[in-house]
Amino acid sequence: MPALIDRFGRKHTYLRISVTDRCNLRCLYCMPEEGMVFMDQDKLLSYAHILEVAESAVRMGIRKFRITGGEPLVRPGLDELIAGLSALPGVDDISLTTNGLLLAPQARKLKEAGLKRVNISLDTLDATRFKFIARRGDLNKVFEGVEAAAEAGLTPIKLNCVLLKGVNEDEIGKFLKLSQEQPLHVRFIEYMPIGHDDENWRNHYLPLSRVLEEAEKLGFSLRHDEGPKGSGPSENWRIEGGAGTFGLIHPISDQFCKNCNRLRLTADGNIKPCLYWMDELNVRQALGSGEAMDRLFLRAMDIKPENHEMAALLAGEKLSHVPTERRMSQIGG
Ligand code: GTP
Ligand code: 5AD
Ligand code: SF4
Repeated sequence: MPALIDRFGRKHTYLRISVTDRCNLRCLYCMPEEGMVFMDQDKLLSYAHILEVAESAVRMGIRKFRITGGEPLVRPGLDELIAGLSALPGVDDISLTTNGLLLAPQARKLKEAGLKRVNISLDTLDATRFKFIARRGDLNKVFEGVEAAAEAGLTPIKLNCVLLKGVNEDEIGKFLKLSQEQPLHVRFIEYMPIGHDDENWRNHYLPLSRVLEEAEKLGFSLRHDEGPKGSGPSENWRIEGGAGTFGLIHPISDQFCKNCNRLRLTADGNIKPCLYWMDELNVRQALGSGEAMDRLFLRAMDIKPENHEMAALLAGEKLSHVPTERRMSQIGG
């Protein structure tokens, strides 16, 4: 049985598939307010081609798929892709990362197609602040999405909260209480500098040690928790007696690259071995040949770097190679 093992001994079992770079929001940590030049529709991999890549991925040992964007639910017919992925033998987990706005009307259909669970971005619980961070959209729609996901059984639901200095750090306590009161998994995430977003990042980056300080200030007793299924890099905790859990995803203050198990497929058809660096492999050259596609995955193992260098960037040090020029919306996180 082939396996995707890189030069540093890391086994890859997880593929993040981005289906579009478009989004119905403009979150300040992800996309410029004025938007971007979006990929031409005819540059996107068709669902049939994505499935061809996914088939090879499964042959090579991938067991978990996550659909990302931009915002994946803006691409029509996503249930078709999910049904295709869930028909592949040996797939353990198919999940979706979404901003939740379009989720309520689609939750049931996605579940029926084979989607197991969702991670929903939720950076604030305040409607006015939502407009400041996301610059569009309506927080109530996100709450409706969370509810519909729970009703449809798209669980465990994880809520992704990117912490931003001077923007939402005063809501840490509210998010901790949410994890105490509801059977949800709240994940605090460190803001990452992806795609020439350095100035914004320097202004708003906040290390997640702030979360544990706040929990202590509020008198919560915490215990380590296994966390819900598929909690890759997240360090998980439960407030004693709480209904839910919370997690810390801290790529910068405590790097987790040594356990990296993931690859990415961009919407325009590139295998991206690492979120941070520029190197990519175009899958179009291998479409139509299973063998060539399998070789491309092996090649991704040869070129995957050991780790990112976001902390070096923070310290103003020189980087060892070229960081990606893609914005987060063009990678899918
Ligand atoms: P689970 O399967 O539920 O554990 O999801 P996930 O955490 O892998 O995916 P999600 O899309 O919810 O991502 C949560 C956060 O982790 C986002 O901010 C991602 O950008 C970040 N993230 C995901 N994978 C990586 C990674 O390989 N490296 C780094 N540095 N950040 C990552
Ligand atoms: N840093 C950290 N997380 C980010 N996300 C988007 N941009 C960034 C960034 N610069 C998160 C989104 C979403 C997930 C895919 O990645 O909030 O939940
Ligand atoms: Fe893996 Fe790159 Fe993410 Fe590190 S930054 S965990 S090497 S994808």
